[in-house]
Amino acid sequence: MDEAALKEVRNLVKQAKRVCVLTGAGVSAESGISTFREAQDGKGLWSEYDPQQLASLDGFLQDPEKVWQWYQWRREVNQDKKPNPAHIALALWQQQAKASGEQEVILVTQNVDGLHQKAGSDPNAYEVIDIHGNIWKNHCLQCREQYLEDVSGLLQVPECKACGGQVRPSVVWFGEALNEKKWQAAETAAYCCDLFLSIGTSSQVYPAAGLMMLAKSQGAKIVEINPEPTQSSVVDYQIQGFAGLVLPSLFKA
Ligand code: OAD
Repeated sequence: MDEAALKEVRNLVKQAKRVCVLTGAGVSAESGISTFREAQDGKGLWSEYDPQQLASLDGFLQDPEKVWQWYQWRREVNQDKKPNPAHIALALWQQQAKASGEQEVILVTQNVDGLHQKAGSDPNAYEVIDIHGNIWKNHCLQCREQYLEDVSGLLQVPECKACGGQVRPSVVWFGEALNEKKWQAAETAAYCCDLFLSIGTSSQVYPAAGLMMLAKSQGAKIVEINPEPTQSSVVDYQIQGFAGLVLPSLFKA
């Protein structure tokens, strides 16, 4: 870890008034959840599975059961996973910021695993905005009504209680628009922040990846935490390391 950069970022963290944090799959890697694009070592989900088949509306319409069962499998694999020190450090930071009233820390996550929420980041207070949805929730493809029944172990696509339509996981698939309210809140957080932290994301998926540029265009300092730094040209400080190690040490002081 670059101690000099860490020291400077620690100062930025102390001084910032409005912070926007964007997290990606890397933040949950230390909880044992696979990322998407780490193909080299065979760890990435998209190196094994075809996202066009399993994470698109077309794929679902072609073979709903296959897609449903893939999400059921992911839920099963993820159900015992726990927040790691990165999730916990971020939630504690948010709680302290709120208590002091001196900082606003908004967390925008691309992750659907719910671990920020489990760690204590509050979705109702818009402290965590899950722009790609939540794998633990389901809704009707047709009428969009939330499906609240327990689906554990269910291998067949359930039917909506309201209209009989097919029930799908409440995650955003490729080609789909993000929830407008959530996206507006995320854009506002990026636009208004003076410090932007990008943690554990390859910054390849838009529109999420554009938040960093938006923050930069308004003069925010940009910090990236990732063991494999991305090539983004707008980053001011790159901290090369695992989120679960870097974040607790960032807030230690
Ligand atoms: P990626 O799999 O594209 O990138 C994960 C990033 O995490 C990589 O840059 C890794 O180097 C980094 N990483 C790995 N371990 C880490 C650790 N311990 N600490 C910090 N960083 C670590 O995942 P995302 O950028 O999140 O979309 O992918 C974005 C979207 O693409 C996902 O939300 C998903 C996917 O298709 C949807 O499901 C809609």
